[in-house]
This record gives sequence, structure tokens and C-alpha cells, in this order.
Amino acid sequence: MEIELDYSKKTVAELITICKEKKIKGYSDKKKNEIIKLILESKNIVIKQEPKQEPKQEPIQINKIVKKTNKSIITDNVVERVIVQPQINITAVNPETNNIDTGKLKMIDLCAGTGAFSMAFTQTGNVDVIFANDMVESSKIIYDDNFNHKLFLKDLNKVNVLDIPKHDILTAGFSCQPFSIAGKQKGFQDNRSDIFWKLFEIIEHHKPQCFIFENVKNLLSHDDKKTFKIILDNIAKYGYNVKYKVLNTSEITGIPQNRERVYIIGIKSKVIYDKFNLDFPNKDKKKITQMLETNTIPDKYYYTNKSSTWTLLSTNVTEKDKVYQYRRVYVRENKSDECPTLTANMGTGGHNVPIILDDTGIRKLTPRECFNFQGFPLSYKLPKKMSDASLYKLAGNAVSVPVVSLIANKLVPLLLQNIS
Ligand SMILES: C[S@@+](CC[C@H](N)C(=O)[O-])C[C@H]1O[C@@H](n2cnc3c(N)ncnc32)[C@H](O)[C@@H]1O
Repeated sequence: MEIELDYSKKTVAELITICKEKKIKGYSDKKKNEIIKLILESKNIVIKQEPKQEPKQEPIQINKIVKKTNKSIITDNVVERVIVQPQINITAVNPETNNIDTGKLKMIDLCAGTGAFSMAFTQTGNVDVIFANDMVESSKIIYDDNFNHKLFLKDLNKVNVLDIPKHDILTAGFSCQPFSIAGKQKGFQDNRSDIFWKLFEIIEHHKPQCFIFENVKNLLSHDDKKTFKIILDNIAKYGYNVKYKVLNTSEITGIPQNRERVYIIGIKSKVIYDKFNLDFPNKDKKKITQMLETNTIPDKYYYTNKSSTWTLLSTNVTEKDKVYQYRRVYVRENKSDECPTLTANMGTGGHNVPIILDDTGIRKLTPRECFNFQGFPLSYKLPKKMSDASLYKLAGNAVSVPVVSLIANKLVPLLLQNIS
């Protein structure tokens, strides 16, 4: 991966500040080029050879407004003359920490799964994902296939906070099983909610500008609302303002999947917090048929009169443009032309995968169609060798990309104002 980096835009004073922050030694009495080299070396970055170029001196400018340009820093009555250095090409040698200064907001995607958060935030054009983590192999495979950097495969509870790069935005759709109505409702007593405390350890150490948690709606009411109170108390304890809301994919994105999830946004700056909200207008829903694959669907997804459930399915699955769900001994038609909530347990036995009727017959949704119902673009790659079970599970676990896009498009401009 080759990425352009221009530390030359920074003044010597700014570079020295970076050295101090990163505890890089040996910068005193060094020239600007040498300090840049020290910084890059500290990040394990290889500097490619550059053609020699004479530094160009910029004219002195005076301005009353505090403003940063790529050539000079101009503050009230203070003018600094800077040397514009030739641009440096760098190659990142640590693929799991894409920690390169491109001037964009830096984000980490935890419990990344499919990388839906990474995708939506990157699409704003102002965010670089510098670290992504999950503990399951299928997540690493699909993530690495779709992004330029590599997902760090490890149990987050075992990751040292110091190995996570400094960031502006933290996202985590953390394990919802302990909170899900379908689960046993053990909440914080369930080991999987350890991840929650780990997230706060990371937040306490790195103090990002903001974080986004996504979870099942039931998180709000679990254990007589005590679980959510613990979450809110901790958010306040670490100095964050919080906004949260249940958002339904089918209402605000036009994607016809009934998916209610709570989005919890912690924001450090009170100014940004006051300007931000989670209110999004309702959007017209697409038809079910618009979400389906147009190519020929392999036979394996179709039910036949040899299927044990054939009688039940053929008498109940009678209309196109509707989605059905097989539930043990009956078939349930989903309300108002929406796909029912896709769940991770679609990956465990075919019966949980929603069913439709098309021109050929009665069949399950394909994995690609499940990704369509989560708002992934067709350019999102589904690894060819991955089993359907893994793909269904990844799709069912994911956040809907367009829901995150709505949040990101509102939040990122506010965060950028804060750092400019
Ligand atoms: C609800 S899914 C989130 C999916 C993701 N937000 C997406 O859009 O695809 C939860 C994810 O957390 C991961 N996970 C759970 N516990 C973890 C842990 N201790 N360390 C790392 N990842 C974990 C799971 O493997 C799963 O991919």
C-alpha cells in the first residue's frame, strides 16, 4: 500500500511537538527533513528515495486571522516563514495499523465484523480507518478482501490499549448476545459483556473525540433498565456527552428491512454535542424485488417437493414482493413488505434465512441479497470460498451501512470543524 504523506506541511515547531507527544528522542539541533525522518522511522514507515529538490522559500505574509495553510501558519500578528519541502512518498510496513497522517479524522472499528462502520465512515471522504479488530476468522477474511488495510484478528479483551493507535472516532457494534431478547438476558454477568469494559478502557486511555456503540434495542430495557443505566453512568464518568436513539433501517434509509437498533453516540465536545442529533427523516421504502439478485439463482437455494417443509411452504408462500420466515411449524409472512430483521443465527441451519417466491419458485434469500438488505453496495465483495453459513452470519450481525452513513454524514463535518 503506498500513501502520500506530507509532513513538510508542518513547521519545525509542530514537528517537535509531534516528537514530544510521541516521545521521540534526538530531534534537537536537527533540520526539518531529519526530524520528519525520525517521526516516520518511529512509525515503522519506509521512506522511498526522492529526487533532490531545492527548498523554496515562501514570502512573509501578515494576517490577522488565525489560519492554517499548507505553507505557513499565520496567527494574530505572528508570522512564521516556512520552507516548503519536496513531498515524501511513504510505504506503511505495518499493515494492521494504518497509522499514517493524511490529515483526515482517524477512526478505529472494533468488533468490526463486515466493516460496515469502516465503509460508511470512509465514504464521507474525511475519515481514515487506522485500526480494525475482530476475533473471528471470517470477519478478517471478508474485511481484508474489502479494505486496503488488514483487520487485526484477536480477542479485544487481550489487546493492549497501547497497541491501539490514537484516534478521533471509535466505533463498536459490540456483542449483542448478552442483551438480546433471544438470549438468556444475563447482561453484565455474561462474559461476553467483558467487551463493554474493554471499550471503556480504550476510551479512557485514548480519549477519542467521539464513539459510537450499536446494539439491540432491548439494551435499553434489559434488567429493568439497570444495564443501560450502567452504560450511561460510565459514559458520563469518562467525560462524554451522550445521545442515543433507536433507529429502524426500514424507516430512514429506504432499505426495506425491519431492523431496530440503538445507536449510542458519546461526544467529548459540548459544542459538537449541542449541534448533533440523531433525527433523520423517513424515506420511501424500496420494493422487495428491487433488493433481489437479477442473475440466475443456483438451485441449492430453492425448495422442492422433496423438501420436508414443502407442503407448509407451498401453501403459505404465495405472493411475490413479500418476505416470509419459517418458524419451526409455521410460516410467517412479514408485515408491510419488509424483510424481517436479519439475524446472526441465519448462519446456523437454513430455517432462519428469510424466504421469498420468485418466477422460478420458493427459495431462501441468497447471502448477497442479505447484504443488499443491510445496504451494502454491490461492490462489497463476498469471498468466493467462504461458506454460506459464515456469510449469512456476517450479514445478520452487521450494522446497516446507510444508517451509519446518515450518522457519519452529520457527525464528521462537526468533528472536522473542531480540529480545524
Ligand atoms: C454484532 S457483531 C458487530 C458487527 C459489525 N458491527 C458489522 O457491522 O459487521 C459483533 C462482533 O463482535 C465480535 N466480537 C465479539 N467479542 C469480541 C471480542 N472479545 N474481541 C473481538 N471481537 C469480538 C464478533 O466476532 C462480531 O463480529
